[in-house]
Amino acid sequence: MRESVGIIATINKKKYEIEVAPNTTLLDVLRDQLGLTGTKRGCEIGECGACTVLIDGQAVNSCLVLAAQIDGHEIVTIEGLADGNTLHPLQESFLDHDAVHCGFCTPGMLMSAKALVDGDIDPSEEEIRIAISGNLCRCSGYQQIVDAVKEIPKK
Ligand code: FES
Ligand code: FES
Repeated sequence: MRESVGIIATINKKKYEIEVAPNTTLLDVLRDQLGLTGTKRGCEIGECGACTVLIDGQAVNSCLVLAAQIDGHEIVTIEGLADGNTLHPLQESFLDHDAVHCGFCTPGMLMSAKALVDGDIDPSEEEIRIAISGNLCRCSGYQQIVDAVKEIPKK
């Protein structure tokens, strides 16, 4: 087996050329190799959604993606959501609605919500619940999270 694979990918608008082990997950590379620890490590079997990032605009569980698969793709993690010191409207809305408790699920929730609102600025409550259905909140603050996504400040 090859010891490493070279990949080129854009992560949070920055181009990276990195060497990864063939069996390394995207989650491992983000957290351990690139220091992007906002993406959380939960179950590591695709059940909790804590590791959700966007690949080419789609929300995916980074624990289930091999890092080698992101070659040539565009990744957005929670660190790429704000614009400098300006929070993304979803982040503002989570704060306004007290949608963050312990915060462990929050990065993943926000990335799933971002994938949704990027495609539909005014999703229904049902659509929001479906979009975050793969994200578990151990603090069970689901209603505040749904309200926050529903009532993001519209520009
Ligand atoms: S850590 Fe990836 S889904 Fe739980
Ligand atoms: S805020 Fe604690 S897990 Fe969701």
